[in-house]
Amino acid sequence: MHTIDLIRKTRDRLPLTEAEIHFLVTGAATESIPLEQLAAWLMAARLNGLALDEIRSLTLAMRDSGVRFDPRPLNQSAVDKHSTGGVGDKTSFLVAPIAAACGLIVPMISGRALGHTGGTLDKLEAIPGFRTALSLSEFEAVLRHAGAAIVSQTPDLVPADRVLYALRDRTGTVESPGLICASILSKKLAAGLDALVLDVKTGSGAFLRDPAEAEFLAALLVSTAEAAGTRAVALLTDMGQPLGYAAGNWIELVEAVELLGNQRNPGSEDLRELSLQLAAWMIHLGGQASSPRHGYALAEATLHNGSALDRFLAMVTAQGGDASVFDRAPSFHRPGATHTLTAAQSGWIAALDTTALGWAVQRLGAGRETAGAPVDPHAGIRFHHRRGDRLQQGDPFATLYATRADLFPEAIDLIQSAIQWSDTPPQPVPLVHSILDRARAQAILASRS
Ligand code: URA
Repeated sequence: MHTIDLIRKTRDRLPLTEAEIHFLVTGAATESIPLEQLAAWLMAARLNGLALDEIRSLTLAMRDSGVRFDPRPLNQSAVDKHSTGGVGDKTSFLVAPIAAACGLIVPMISGRALGHTGGTLDKLEAIPGFRTALSLSEFEAVLRHAGAAIVSQTPDLVPADRVLYALRDRTGTVESPGLICASILSKKLAAGLDALVLDVKTGSGAFLRDPAEAEFLAALLVSTAEAAGTRAVALLTDMGQPLGYAAGNWIELVEAVELLGNQRNPGSEDLRELSLQLAAWMIHLGGQASSPRHGYALAEATLHNGSALDRFLAMVTAQGGDASVFDRAPSFHRPGATHTLTAAQSGWIAALDTTALGWAVQRLGAGRETAGAPVDPHAGIRFHHRRGDRLQQGDPFATLYATRADLFPEAIDLIQSAIQWSDTPPQPVPLVHSILDRARAQAILASRS
């Protein structure tokens, strides 16, 4: 087989066979296909889309591109949650320890910053010493100790996603339902999960902004996971504004730890509510609660009694991190430069272009320009206001933390252009739009074929 023939087929909208997809994925995993050819194929797939059979073959070939984790020796249900990517989305730091505190194990294989969205691994690596590239035996040891572990793809674990994920980040090929589905599920299925909760974002900060496209992605994810033997449900959730008050690396961890410690902040209420709803489904599908409602009550109790915070700190320590850093969080935060951005006019914040806000966060230093480049753990934005708030001209809207002061002008332009002002208050937007199970997913896919 020749890679050029496969690129030409996808370019010309001809479906690839399972063997051809296997060839591409093996070439990505072993780095035997040059990056320029992989990038060309990704762009063809992004522009022309992939057929359902191609998406299923791609997902399974990527899952099998390395070793797979077997959670069965741990004798507990293995559950996880994965989001399709958002701004300020730090629910993983809440749901993983909450589910662990409810008697489940959470073997989470996660990702780095992608496009305008932040990366769970980049955020965790803001903790001094924290290691995300663990061997399978280290992964298992952390799970035995803390019940939750959050790790990266490695040359052994889903290596195809390791290569393709980083390449998509740099080539404008992220926004594709098929590529997103294969990327997410290859990691989740390689972790041997019993159940998976998918947080599919919709709105101005989602990779797929159009609600119908987001629903299609949710259906793809649920039906592909179920066909591979993992119970799955998807929540379609709002990404029309950043989740919580912080977007960046270290500052997102601080916000999550505040909530784990049962501190309430009006700017974090959407984050708390979404985390509890996602955790509720994890706990229910994992067999620890008779209904999501029961799961919600169990999840909330772990915030009140401190058991989720204990699990989180145990995980940080077991992965080599210095958990004491959370005791001195304000003095640990040392951004290169700080700037307070004030409202350019008076009025209600009617809507936000959350993709532009995400790019502002990345450009302040929280994201990378080239694969493998370091990110700034201290960079990010603290938002003082949200959609629906009324501001007077000159009120502080956000505090920006950057590596260097010369990074502010671009970020400020992005933020100012992201705010849509109005003379009247906007209609509230629900946090969770709908919930998709297997039957609904199959009905959606059938209606499109
Ligand atoms: N998360 C992933 O792991 N992959 C994507 O493509 C998008 C979100």
